[in-house]
Amino acid sequence: MVGVIRGTGACLPETIVDNEDLAGIMDTSDEWIRERTGIARRRLIREETTVSMAVRAAERALEDAGVGAEEIDLILVSTVSSNTVLPSTACAVQEQIGADSAVCFDLNAACTGFLFGLSTAQTYIYAGAAKHVLVIGAESLSGLVNWEDRSTAILFGDGAGAVVLCAREGDFPPLVMHSDGGRGRVLTCGSPFEGAGGYPAQSPGSSAAKDREGARAPFIRMDGQEIFRFAVRQVPGCIEELLEKCGRSLEEIDLFLLHQANARIVEGIARRLRADPAKFPMNLAEYGNTSSASIPILLDELNRGGRLREGMRLVLAGFGAGLSWGAAYLEWQKERS
Ligand code: UT7
Repeated sequence: MVGVIRGTGACLPETIVDNEDLAGIMDTSDEWIRERTGIARRRLIREETTVSMAVRAAERALEDAGVGAEEIDLILVSTVSSNTVLPSTACAVQEQIGADSAVCFDLNAACTGFLFGLSTAQTYIYAGAAKHVLVIGAESLSGLVNWEDRSTAILFGDGAGAVVLCAREGDFPPLVMHSDGGRGRVLTCGSPFEGAGGYPAQSPGSSAAKDREGARAPFIRMDGQEIFRFAVRQVPGCIEELLEKCGRSLEEIDLFLLHQANARIVEGIARRLRADPAKFPMNLAEYGNTSSASIPILLDELNRGGRLREGMRLVLAGFGAGLSWGAAYLEWQKERS
């Protein structure tokens, strides 16, 4: 069995913050941000939360797929910015959409998270353990960036995207996933207690609750140039590995949907592959880097914009903290045959 995407959905916060707004609060400019990243504006949560956006994206994807919440038997949410440590965002989504039969869990693979969610969903489906799966990427990174650090604060945005996968006869789909924990230090976000080595150990009568009062907020920290080099070097090889696995040439691929981190990264990957840059759609000018939500948000825009025709060959590719990276091949078969 294989999962095919029957529906997509997205949810973006209403509040728009453009580059000029940021230039008003930090030493940056619209020109610098556009030239170095391709980002013009981003959406940031006010009333919304990671859970509320995940729920809305899921409802839209279910509606698009014509699948009822009660039919869903697995909900996977990729997020690094869950409302709470416990319970998971996936369980909160289950409750709010009424997917009572679903098994639910979150996974953390940062900006590659949607790809890890997709591969986990396909594994469940192939094993016969699920027939209808919701895979969601949802993030509120505005709560994890240091708004005094201009090198990271300008990059990220909030949002959620979702797909509904339905099982049909077929082989396990071509997927390539990689992780390299040895290079993880170039992109981190610690716990509030990272200076003390993480969450403090507690024993009966310990004063950990008191210690936590003084904890610092955790922030995203990164070596931007190192991440840039990693993405532009690693992702083309990963896509070539995927194409070899599925026996397709680069020219046979209609669209490459890459994690939306930086327009120069997407262009650099296209150049290294010697692929037509027109096959690499981008929306990061509007939303910035929404981490694990970026690929499903882009997929939803293309789907709703009528840009995906039946039978189109797509490559999805993500990369980010871990380090982690991966790619998936799929043929667009949204209509039930
Ligand atoms: O999902 C994965 C998450 N991470 C990423 O995708 C990050 C990937 N990396 C990048 O996108 C880029 O490395 C950045 C956009 C973060 C930075 O672009 P860059 O071309 O690598 O710039 P840089 O770090 O080499 O900095 C160049 C200059 C520096 O000033 P000096 O030392 O040359 O005087 C920075 O201090 O630009 C300065 N700078 C800024 N200037 C204005 C850094 N951030 C800003 C800013 N506005 N926001």
